Amino acid sequence: MPEIAYVNGEFLPLDRATVHVEDRGFQFADAVYEVVRTYHGQPFALDDHLARLFRSLDAIHLNHHFNAEQLKSVINDAVARAGFPEAVVYLQITRGRARRHRGFPRASEPTFVMTVRELESSAHVREAGVAVITVSDIRWAHCDIKSVALLANVLAYNAARQSGAHDAVFVEADGTVNESTAGNIFVVSRAKVTTPPKGPRILPGVTRDKILQAARAAGVQTTEERITKPELAAADEVFLTSTTAEVVPVVSVDGQVVGPGKPGPVTARIYEQFQRMFVPRR
Ligand code: PDD
Repeated sequence: MPEIAYVNGEFLPLDRATVHVEDRGFQFADAVYEVVRTYHGQPFALDDHLARLFRSLDAIHLNHHFNAEQLKSVINDAVARAGFPEAVVYLQITRGRARRHRGFPRASEPTFVMTVRELESSAHVREAGVAVITVSDIRWAHCDIKSVALLANVLAYNAARQSGAHDAVFVEADGTVNESTAGNIFVVSRAKVTTPPKGPRILPGVTRDKILQAARAAGVQTTEERITKPELAAADEVFLTSTTAEVVPVVSVDGQVVGPGKPGPVTARIYEQFQRMFVPRR
């Protein structure tokens, strides 16, 4: 099955897809993105992802002519052409191609890029759990916008890998825990689940919302409140959520074991409920 790309109206093999060197996405990270997954060939929570994409576009004042129906149709077309049952669809919209200048170009068409690749299974990390490190949150003040400017995330992720951990969690100077480099964070303490509230310091994850709903449906109490670094290490369970990895249990933080050092029962219960409620059956 082919990995495919779509660039400004044209489908082509992924390794032949290019954008211009003066594209503002390339020059300034003047662009936003979305990552959607499929289950059994069907895009998951597409309305939620598109709503967030339009919010991101508005937040950076990117003029465009896209609408949800049009994007849905091209995404469905791409997914069908690629043919992977479990795929990752990456969408990026940039402010287009223009002579390099900080001012918004008067007459540039947005660049719309999409890729479809096969999803790598995260079942092994879900079974074993992962180690994370905490890093200082040096990102900009609008992490609720799904901006392609991910350099801080790239550096933090690689610092984690170099130290033998799976991922890094961003923590502010006052100890506030925000999220990981590519996912939202949850802690379970005394059978109650807490995740940081929505706001400019985190991405409002599509999976985060579904997990909160699943937790409530599974009879687990939930709150959206500030989590501090000491609370992270002292939690009974910790887990991360994202579109691609769904739920990833964290079994150590900065070398300190979380709970009994293996994926916990509340995380498992919430994940099972998430699957029952949201993941379409074959
Ligand atoms: N990342 N926080 C950050 C910083 C993220 O990059 C992501 C997703 C999330 C979780 O959002 P959602 O549940 O909507 O996927 C939270 C995607 C998967 C990525 O960049 O690859």
